[in-house]
Amino acid sequence: MYETLLLKEIDQFLLVTINRPKSLNALNVQVFTDLINLFTTGIKKFQYRGIVITGSGDRAFVAGADIKEFLTLDSDSAMSLSKRGQDIFTVIEQYHVPIIAAVNGFALGGGCELAMACHMRIAGANAKFGQPEVNLGIIPGYGGTQRLPQLIGKSKAMELTLTGDMINATEAHRIGLANAICEADEEVSSALAILKKIAKKAPLAIQKAIEAINAGYAGSGYTAEVEGFGRLAQTKDFREGATAFIEKRKPNWVGE
Ligand code: COA
Repeated sequence: MYETLLLKEIDQFLLVTINRPKSLNALNVQVFTDLINLFTTGIKKFQYRGIVITGSGDRAFVAGADIKEFLTLDSDSAMSLSKRGQDIFTVIEQYHVPIIAAVNGFALGGGCELAMACHMRIAGANAKFGQPEVNLGIIPGYGGTQRLPQLIGKSKAMELTLTGDMINATEAHRIGLANAICEADEEVSSALAILKKIAKKAPLAIQKAIEAINAGYAGSGYTAEVEGFGRLAQTKDFREGATAFIEKRKPNWVGE
């Protein structure tokens, strides 16, 4: 039913596993289709009391947007892709039951953005977070320029976004990006333990708390992000960045 997702019911919760391990669970067009179908029509309202999202295998939560799909983008299709990613992640952010990201390895680019759209993040010992888009001549396009400063503050968000640096689980926890850290392999059970605690509370109160907290964070920055992503997609540096990644070499920037 979902080409790229594995679903498992655990008591009153749903475990969603993004399942493209050969590409470190990179978000291609099909993952977006599957996620939107799951979260809009695939699950009935209050069918579950909480959801955990994780990545297949032991290397990655999600290593970003699928860079191999970037080469076909022009400005318009890049803007559509960015808007689509934003919309899907907003559905997750606004979801009426809590969603926790169980981060079991790389959460980079779109993977970090997916984790940030979830209501909380549990980082396993080998989790690595980052927004490395500048290494590809682009910027985060699925809400990362907005949610990263919301979660960790503008100063640290600038640093991570402009350097493209990766941080480990301890640092992610220290700066408030991860709610908790745990042993590798215990990400899902740790997330379920939090969901079990929340499931003891009144469901409508939880739904309204999620809505009210999110209401303070709507802003025009999402539009600027889509426009920036679209403009950069038509540059020579963007083609060079994606090509260099695929050819496993350093990019040569020309500033055009
Ligand atoms: N899109 C598409 N494919 C990806 C990918 C992505 N975002 N991230 C990893 N892959 C693929 C690699 O191309 C490789 O495929 P191959 O075996 O066919 O060559 C496979 O996953 C394993 O990745 P590899 O780079 O060989 O592993 P590594 O351990 O050397 O490095 C990372 C791991 C995560 C550091 C590295 O893959 C990486 O930097 N990925 C891109 C991260 C990124 O920039 N994300 C933001 C995109 S906007």
